Amino acid sequence: MPMSFATKPGPSIPLFLISPEDLHGFLTARPKAVRAWLSQLGFTGKLAEAHLVPGPDGKALLAVVGAGDAKARIRGRFQMAAAARRLPDGLYELAEEHYRGPAAVDLDEFALGWLLAGYSFDRYATQAKTQTRLRAPKGIDVPRIEAIAAGEALTRDLINTPASDMGPEELEVAFFALAKAYGAIPTAIRGEDLLAQNLPMIHAVGRASHRAPRLLDMRWGSSGPRLTLVGKGVCFDTGGLNLKPESSIGLMKKDMGGAATVLGLAQMIMVLKLPLRLRVLVPAVENVLGGSAYRPQDILTSRKGLTVEINNTDAEGRLVLADALTLADEEAPDMLISMATLTGAARVAVGPDLAPFFTDDEDLAAALNSHARAVSDPVWRLPFWDPYEAMIEPGIADLDNAPKGGFAGAITAALFLRRFVENTPSYAHFDIYGWQPSPAPARPKGGVGQGNRALLAALPDVLDL
Ligand code: BES
Ligand code: ZN
Ligand code: ZN
Repeated sequence: MPMSFATKPGPSIPLFLISPEDLHGFLTARPKAVRAWLSQLGFTGKLAEAHLVPGPDGKALLAVVGAGDAKARIRGRFQMAAAARRLPDGLYELAEEHYRGPAAVDLDEFALGWLLAGYSFDRYATQAKTQTRLRAPKGIDVPRIEAIAAGEALTRDLINTPASDMGPEELEVAFFALAKAYGAIPTAIRGEDLLAQNLPMIHAVGRASHRAPRLLDMRWGSSGPRLTLVGKGVCFDTGGLNLKPESSIGLMKKDMGGAATVLGLAQMIMVLKLPLRLRVLVPAVENVLGGSAYRPQDILTSRKGLTVEINNTDAEGRLVLADALTLADEEAPDMLISMATLTGAARVAVGPDLAPFFTDDEDLAAALNSHARAVSDPVWRLPFWDPYEAMIEPGIADLDNAPKGGFAGAITAALFLRRFVENTPSYAHFDIYGWQPSPAPARPKGGVGQGNRALLAALPDVLDL
């Protein structure tokens, strides 16, 4: 199903979103045959119910989708849009009734959800598809919703592609393709050049892989505030010499989820031509075992000059991000955002549905909190808790990449990153999960963007666009 709205003229099937409390009123306004049909099917207006109703000629007359009650709706997102996968193939259009009276349905959420429900990852095998198409609901911003859906599809495709086909080089190819498609200027620093260009921790983490580590950089836009996005691009995370156990290595193709999410967001920004100067940085590496791998107890000197004692080679994300953040911070952009599948602790704290973020910028935090809800992209602020700074200070180096004890693991990782940002007035870090563990409305099992839509919505407020 294409991730765009149907535009071709012709007959469409009117779609009614009916809650249990609206059911009676809806039925009394319909012909007897419709009432009989729906009562036979047992339609109650509960979420997840979706039925076609035939007319006297046997052809589709209308479709009904359960809108549930408020208590049920609050337990999820995009639930009504899930009908896109439950109804038979056809061209649907919200019934006129939905534009009259108080707006019970969030049309933006419904429309975006419908498009996102059409996503499937088809690179290796054809997936079950539906041909349900929706005409854009009246009054929504069609180019914006379509740009968001396309950006999210890019994020999902990048995460879902296994590491065998999405190593540092393939991520670079995708990065350059995106840049070129929208007139951004991409560059890359690869392999030994990372040492010459003083990006030593990106090199150290990635050097044991035969797939050379690299730093990808793109710039777009010539005026407006400067926004820099940094995404963790660990194409596979074995844990390195501190090899991950079976229980956690299985999903690590998604460890470039931060990179995938900032690229999806960058695409949205470029398609929608936000009036800002965008820079995207992705340290792309593979964290593997090998004779030349970096070791526990090694001490690395970062781009910034801070020394880092390696106490776990599985805490590699903060190392590659630290050098990228230092580079980003050198030109003091107006805002700097990092996104990374950084810690298991974040997943334990908030689970896969919420994107935890850290910032000292109160305006940004407030804007994210309010917009996140409105665009069904939930985020949750966690603190840069200064009293824990001591936890990332080991004995013989400036910083420890893996504090013992594991207390507040997401916070100590965020504090580690913050040490590398000094000149930028506004910094936020998202520790995302990047993966939908079981199918949900508009989110099939697999890679998923988080925090991207909340950011897109918040940017005009915080950057005065
Ligand atoms: N990529 C992982 C974090 C991760 C694990 C994210 C599982 C989502 C799901 C990261 O590189 C990592 O392994 N972090 C360690 C850090 C620890 C050794 C200080 C972690 O969280 O266990
Ligand atoms: Zn790791
Ligand atoms: Zn990792």
